[in-house]
Amino acid sequence: MNLNRRDCLKWMISGASGAALSPVATLPAADSKQNSPPPPEHERRMQWWRQAKFGMFLHWGLYSLLGRDAWAMGDEDIPLQEYEQLAMQFRPLPNMAQRWARAARAAGMRYMVLTTKHHEGFCLFDSQLTDYCAPKHAASRDLVREFVEAARAEGLRVGFYYSLMDWHHPDWRKAKDDAAARGRFVDYTHGQLRELMSNYGKIDILWYDMPVPLDASGWRSEEMNRMVLQLQPDIVINNRNLLGGDFATPEQSTQAGKADWESCMTMNDTWGYTHNDNNWKSSQQLLQNLVECARDGGNYLLNVGPQPDGGIPAASLERLQTLGRWLERNGAAVYETERCSFPHGNIGVYTRKGNTLFVHIYFWPGQRMTVGGAKFKVHSARFLASGMPVKFVQRDAQLIFPELPLEPPDKPIAVIAVECDREPVQEALSSRADHPS
Ligand code: GLC
Repeated sequence: MNLNRRDCLKWMISGASGAALSPVATLPAADSKQNSPPPPEHERRMQWWRQAKFGMFLHWGLYSLLGRDAWAMGDEDIPLQEYEQLAMQFRPLPNMAQRWARAARAAGMRYMVLTTKHHEGFCLFDSQLTDYCAPKHAASRDLVREFVEAARAEGLRVGFYYSLMDWHHPDWRKAKDDAAARGRFVDYTHGQLRELMSNYGKIDILWYDMPVPLDASGWRSEEMNRMVLQLQPDIVINNRNLLGGDFATPEQSTQAGKADWESCMTMNDTWGYTHNDNNWKSSQQLLQNLVECARDGGNYLLNVGPQPDGGIPAASLERLQTLGRWLERNGAAVYETERCSFPHGNIGVYTRKGNTLFVHIYFWPGQRMTVGGAKFKVHSARFLASGMPVKFVQRDAQLIFPELPLEPPDKPIAVIAVECDREPVQEALSSRADHPS
């Protein structure tokens, strides 16, 4: 049977306690409470997160040694005893976390989220509840502590990813049907979350993943969130323990949600380090994704899959640098922006902060560009990167830039900041049936 990694609710668990992950039972989708209201003090806790817009996701663990993505153990059915040997070879560079944090800050990211434990079950942190953790194997270091310290040193917010699914724990496979195993496993999960929330000072984000094979009551998710908030009153929590949480987590897509949301996305096609996955998105594509998240009130969590020693792959680093340089010039069009009701543009998109409209031009038209549905009055326009004024004319609902330079003044995306007399909203376009007129 083919295990479909993309769809958590189709994930199967094996009934046997054997090391291989042979699937036998489908998951219940029942009792998901993902529409439940956010936890208390949501508005207060979410302030910084809504402004931050851009974060780094890090998928790193024993699987990085294999170089075949984070799902290697599951997809290849690698026996547990064989896989565990990797823990004896995992010896990261001494300063890997500093490299990540510096790269993240230089990329214009405002927070980082690290896989403290991925589906393989190996913990990068020191745990009293298992020996299967970095400090008790070849690494001999608490890698999560190094991550926390490095992120803070660069002024970045700190996020912990934690996979609820655990291919290593003997009770995980039995948890669905065996109450005693479930009790032990869920206690283990809560216990580890307690460790993570207690031992590293202030943590800003908790990022659950893969609530397989239980439902929200099976995981005791409400109790879980209560504990987390008690230990970390300012933290924000995602929705992947099957409660609504503070924000939703569309994956590999920038599709907007009504409430707070964050799009997590790979730069190539895989989360963990993968030899020869060279299907890298271009810097322009990555920036477009970031801008479109900002337009629709979301954040962008862009993944890096470090090599086994912790080094960032050159192709990722190069893209991070391009993004960072662009954000140094154009960050005002992304950070702290608000949802923008300006959906239609043929050569670019729009973001907004207060009464300022940012016109992001993806495909430079040369000389002349027209914005449709713009009935507000424009006070001034300038290129965001250089501050150079941009000539404009308003004709009915058209805002026209008639004298643009032939070549784009900035790359990969040139931005014009337009100061308006009120919140710029795109009015009905006569050609758009979906737009009320
Ligand atoms: C998917 C992947 C998982 C990854 C997560 C990040 O659920 O299966 O491995 O950690 O996405 O969002």
